[in-house]
Amino acid sequence: MLLLGIETSCDDTATAVVRDGRDVLASVSTNQDAFHAKYGGIVPEIASRQHVALLSAAVEDALDRAGASLDTIDGIAVTRGPGLIGSLVVGVASAKALAFATGKPLYGVNHLHGHIFAAFLDRPESPRYPFLTLLVSGGHSQLVAVESPTQMRVIGRTRDDAAGEAYDKTARLLGLGFPGGPQMDALARNGDPKAFAFPRHRPDGDALDMSFSGLKTSVRYFLESDAGRNAKHEDVAASFQAAVIDVLIARVDAAFARAPYTGVVLSGGVAANSGLQNALRAWAQKRGVEALIPPPKYCTDNAAMIAAAANYQGEAIRVDPMTLSADPNLPFSFEPEAA
Ligand code: KG4
Ligand code: ZN
Repeated sequence: MLLLGIETSCDDTATAVVRDGRDVLASVSTNQDAFHAKYGGIVPEIASRQHVALLSAAVEDALDRAGASLDTIDGIAVTRGPGLIGSLVVGVASAKALAFATGKPLYGVNHLHGHIFAAFLDRPESPRYPFLTLLVSGGHSQLVAVESPTQMRVIGRTRDDAAGEAYDKTARLLGLGFPGGPQMDALARNGDPKAFAFPRHRPDGDALDMSFSGLKTSVRYFLESDAGRNAKHEDVAASFQAAVIDVLIARVDAAFARAPYTGVVLSGGVAANSGLQNALRAWAQKRGVEALIPPPKYCTDNAAMIAAAANYQGEAIRVDPMTLSADPNLPFSFEPEAA
């Protein structure tokens, strides 16, 4: 199945052409960071306007690069939520128009399900169920038990900030620009992760929940102290990152202690973090577990992952091009919608 993917849930205008949920023939992403950086965060109105300006060319570009056309694709997959409403509607309206004009099937994809199936792009492995996913992005941090393409249970989640949000806020405390995650990652590589002992959240009872706002606050107080004012930022970033990684790996370990999984998938923007990738690989090796970690280009938002999710979920997420609507609060749990 050859699918055109369209993703405009946040600030990346992304399109892709993917065969059978695996072979990425083209993946195009126009990053808008330069437009948002001076505001220290994403401005929804600007993101929406940029999607309008860029999306048609991005669709053509992906089809050209893939050597495909609207005639040769088998369907169109679009992110229908969750995300910024003004951004989502641009992709959804465009996908509806393309599906209506060509008569090809339209698939409405949950952005987070896309992140999960990103791990199977450009690699030989097919999903073996049930697997565990650690989904860590700018908006979400959760552990998901994936029992089938359409049966997924969130078994642990953050009580406050998402991991990516904690990275971005802590980066700001260190005077770094937005998004802060990649810059913190780079700083941390040259710092001592044991320089400062920042707190690691422990869940109540045997819950698999996590929390990152206490960590961020602790870094803030530290930076305001005498010791903090003189601390090397590389050491602060490395020590912060060590605390985030410890919490995430501890929850993965606890999840594996409760139920058998075929492996662990790392996904979402924070999955691009080199320290987290190394830690998960080391943990998996020690435990004899298979770890699937997408390359950085498929960790952050992209449209290939949207086409991949549609490939696996198929008819269950097929939607009517006349009635599909964007849903900024689309629930994670799977809600099939008849065509
Ligand atoms: O999945 P994503 O591209 O967008 C959504 O939130 O859906 O994730 C973006 C988040 C941002 O918070 C960004 O700072 C973080 O992922 N991020 C990273 C790295 N690359 C991106 N965090 C830590 N280390 C990285 N290398
Ligand atoms: Zn995302």
